[in-house]
Amino acid sequence: MRKKVLIISSSLRHHSNSEILARETARGVRAAGNEVQYVSLKDKEIRYCLGCMSCIKTEQCVQKDDVAPILADMKEAYAIVFVSPIYYYSISGQLKTLLDRTLPFYERPYSFRDIYLITVSADAAEDTAKRAVVTLEGWIDCFDKARFAGGFNAGGLNDANAIEEHTEWLPKAFALGKQI
Ligand SMILES: Cc1cc2nc3c(=O)[nH]c(=O)nc-3n(C[C@H](O)[C@H](O)[C@H](O)COP(=O)(O)O)c2cc1C
Repeated sequence: MRKKVLIISSSLRHHSNSEILARETARGVRAAGNEVQYVSLKDKEIRYCLGCMSCIKTEQCVQKDDVAPILADMKEAYAIVFVSPIYYYSISGQLKTLLDRTLPFYERPYSFRDIYLITVSADAAEDTAKRAVVTLEGWIDCFDKARFAGGFNAGGLNDANAIEEHTEWLPKAFALGKQI
């Protein structure tokens, strides 16, 4: 059966390295014969969670912005690949805000099982993304059937489009998408 794979890129800048990596991952998913959906948080309105807890009862957020369709895609996917720039050695605020907004899922049925994280950073040190992984794992731990399935940090990339000159990361993104 074809797996549904959702790729969410959280960089908001034009020609982001995240977006390029996300699209390459999507190519890998397609090459394996699986179904891919790509969502960019760029140009999306994603408000902060208000902490009102209404969604615990209603399964819906009281805020009307661009989050509901993204949550619907997340809920139905088998695998989710988050792609995020490293900001202060963690995931981007916009991705964390989206994760906070998934409270309507909490203790309700969902399909996602394998969760991946691809990050992009200026720093090329091997452990650059360790706190980003820990942050995402905190979210995953709240969903019993989901697990952290892997990923990588594309280090040494500061400028937008820098990846065009460091193409060594592209095969890694393709391979990650293909093995899902
Ligand atoms: C607010 C902010 C914080 C950042 N913090 C870090 C950091 O802690 N470590 C690092 O290596 N790079 C950091 N960077 C650099 C970005 O990770 C880098 O520019 C990356 O290529 C952005 O990915 P993108 O092109 O997908 O947006 C930061 C950039 C911004 C804008």
